[in-house]
Amino acid sequence: TGIPHTDRRGRSVRDLRISVTDRCNFRCVYCMPRAVFDNDYPFLPRNQLLSFEEIVRVARLFVARGVKKIRITGGEPLLRKHIERLVGMLAELDGVELTLTTNGVLLPKLARPLRDAGLHRVTVSLDSLDDATFRRMNDADFPVARVLEGIAAAEAAGLAPIKVNMVVKRGTNDDGIVDMARHFRGSGHILRFIEFMDVGASNGWKMDEVLPSREVVERIHRIFPLDPIDPNYEGEVAERWRYQDGAGEIGVISSVTHAFCSTCTRIRLSTEGKLYTCLFADHGHDLRALLRSDADDATLDTAIARVWAVRDDRYSEIRTANTPRQHRVEMSYIGG
Ligand code: GTP
Ligand code: 5AD
Ligand code: SF4
Ligand code: SF4
Repeated sequence: TGIPHTDRRGRSVRDLRISVTDRCNFRCVYCMPRAVFDNDYPFLPRNQLLSFEEIVRVARLFVARGVKKIRITGGEPLLRKHIERLVGMLAELDGVELTLTTNGVLLPKLARPLRDAGLHRVTVSLDSLDDATFRRMNDADFPVARVLEGIAAAEAAGLAPIKVNMVVKRGTNDDGIVDMARHFRGSGHILRFIEFMDVGASNGWKMDEVLPSREVVERIHRIFPLDPIDPNYEGEVAERWRYQDGAGEIGVISSVTHAFCSTCTRIRLSTEGKLYTCLFADHGHDLRALLRSDADDATLDTAIARVWAVRDDRYSEIRTANTPRQHRVEMSYIGG
């Protein structure tokens, strides 16, 4: 087709994130606050979810359009039944890095089957090494040890290098930044600090609770001196810093204080088959109806190409403290 491959800001699509469930066994305060995601919350019923076959069909078309990395997300993706089957199907797409973001607690059981199915890497979320703080943040009484066991299982299965994501909330877990750095230095895992973001409409985000990445780096640098290093690839989300003593590297993700929209090559496929061109979008583009009609691949590809070609998003560059949020899609629905 004659539809351009770049969006309105000249960006190509390189990174497809696939959400496979909107459910989670955690209730992280910055993502699925319990007051909102309670027993009455209308999670998607099963017949609304894309099947693995439908997901792979969309993924294959994106790979033909230049996608190089596929990340499986949620909610908590390891809650999706037979997730290793989907991994096996996606692993057959050539030339694609296949990775997954998880809270880690199901890795002791699933790391090996996922690796055997062809998963390359995992990113594990962990917000504190202090049990009381961590339980308060996941609000589902999971201890730190469960996540550390998950990380160990991923390492044993060869899902390396493992990235560990810590969302930093000032006044909640920022006193544990140096402890996290100390723990993961020299482990071969890459710890990344993420600024608390105003994603979704329910996490009560306030600028006061954002600790700028610059301060994260300063606090660590005082104890374990750091040097900046170059990105691994154009448009990498995390800024990288290495320990001067050779104990590895950390990353900081500054979506609030240093937006990276100008190089954003990401698109997200929701659990129910909608495409979102931005984490902060208020609506998606439905593909499921097309997938469940008798449309052929060319028709589906045209629909996908159109969505990308008109993309103009750069939310993080233009947000202000009072940008309205009420219609914003939730991170637990669209994935990280
Ligand atoms: P790798 O380099 O392959 O590990 O991937 P990545 O750096 O993209 O990391 P990951 O997907 O784990 O993203 C880390 C975190 O960065 C996410 O959990 C989000 O909090 C944030 N993030 C990722 N993509 C975006 C984005 O497009 N916009 C914004 N604002 N934040 C993002
Ligand atoms: N701000 C920053 N990061 C977030 N995540 C979820 N919600 C937020 C938020 N409000 C991160 C999680 C995990 C990934 C799925 O997204 O910590 O690493
Ligand atoms: Fe679940 Fe991850 Fe959201 Fe926490 S951040 S509630 S683990 S999806
Ligand atoms: Fe990409 Fe939107 Fe995030 Fe900017 S705010 S980096 S456009 S997903």
